[in-house]
Amino acid sequence: MPRLFDPYTLKSVTLRNRIAVSPMCQYMAEEGAVTDWHTVHYASLARGGAGLVVVEATAVAPEGRITWGDLGLWNDAQAEAMRPVVAAIREAGAVPGIQIAHAGRKASANRPWEGDDHIPAGETNSWTTIAPSPVAFGAGLPRLPEEMTLAEIARVQADTVNAVIRARDLGFEWLQLHMAHGYLAQNFFSPHSNHRTDSYGGSAENRARYLLETLIAVKKVWPEDRPLTIRLGVVEFDGTDAMLDEAIALLRRMKDEGLDFVDVSLGFNTPKANIPWAPNFMGDIAQQVRQATSLPVATSWYIAKPEDADALVRDEKIDLLMIGRPLLAEPHWPYRAAQELGVEEAAWATLPAPYAHWLARYR
Ligand SMILES: Cc1cc2nc3c(=O)[nH]c(=O)nc-3n(C[C@H](O)[C@H](O)[C@H](O)COP(=O)(O)O)c2cc1C
Repeated sequence: MPRLFDPYTLKSVTLRNRIAVSPMCQYMAEEGAVTDWHTVHYASLARGGAGLVVVEATAVAPEGRITWGDLGLWNDAQAEAMRPVVAAIREAGAVPGIQIAHAGRKASANRPWEGDDHIPAGETNSWTTIAPSPVAFGAGLPRLPEEMTLAEIARVQADTVNAVIRARDLGFEWLQLHMAHGYLAQNFFSPHSNHRTDSYGGSAENRARYLLETLIAVKKVWPEDRPLTIRLGVVEFDGTDAMLDEAIALLRRMKDEGLDFVDVSLGFNTPKANIPWAPNFMGDIAQQVRQATSLPVATSWYIAKPEDADALVRDEKIDLLMIGRPLLAEPHWPYRAAQELGVEEAAWATLPAPYAHWLARYR
């Protein structure tokens, strides 16, 4: 029976435990490039003892940023600035991962603590947004996106491949393509935002085309021995139930094309969803996806108690825990979790030597 603090191996990558830092945008980049903020932030999270640290949503093109403060990998200067982050994660004993993203119709927003809403057209840091169809998200994100032409679809896919090449060359070992949370890939997948009548819209198979094609294109440049993963929004909680079946069908196709792992998440593609927030509420859905696709899975959302996290792994509902906010509050959550779970040796192993030495002496 696997436990939270057992190592996890996928392809050539071995994580020291089943805890991953979920991607979390910091909105602190300058022209898409890492600042000191990121280096300190990621070093601190990696020193907390997680097995995997997934760097936040990193945009493939300027218009694909959620806000002007998002990271990007569309030029070499951004790649160069990212180097210390990769080194800091690795030095702390964690595996460096990255999430590659395009925000689609949710792009061009204010930073969350400055409004979290679309910046009106014409104002500083506002730009034209693109999506499969000219349909606005609504609520605080009312901007009408421009409908992508076939040439633009090909361009964003090429941008994605180029960003992945930069991530590969930087030494990231775990790739996550962002296909969740109401951003571009999810915009294609969901009938809420995809009203196209060409081969990218209509049937579930057509709505999945952009996602599948992007995965296939990325697979050609991503090393065979490193995990190729996605984050997919598989449920919307909007009163329709087709999405989970469509997601499972897509994941089976993707598995045939070389997908290694899926982080099971939410659609967030309509403001009309009624999400049943509760501790561990995604655990059973993740397990359903795991069983239906035979892919290893992760999930997150309100999994903050070590015993709950361990139970999800023990019960084989998930292979890996993607943990977010609890780590912002307590970067050494893994240390406390190991202590609470009674795995003393693992608790010490989460700590860097300069911390472990003193904590051992002053117990
Ligand atoms: C500050 C912040 C930024 C986030 N940014 C991203 C992101 O870049 N990409 C992503 O897929 N999810 C993002 N999320 C969602 C987290 O990855 C995670 O799934 C979510 O916080 C739920 O896990 P938790 O309950 O452990 O926090 C973000 C969440 C927070 C709190």
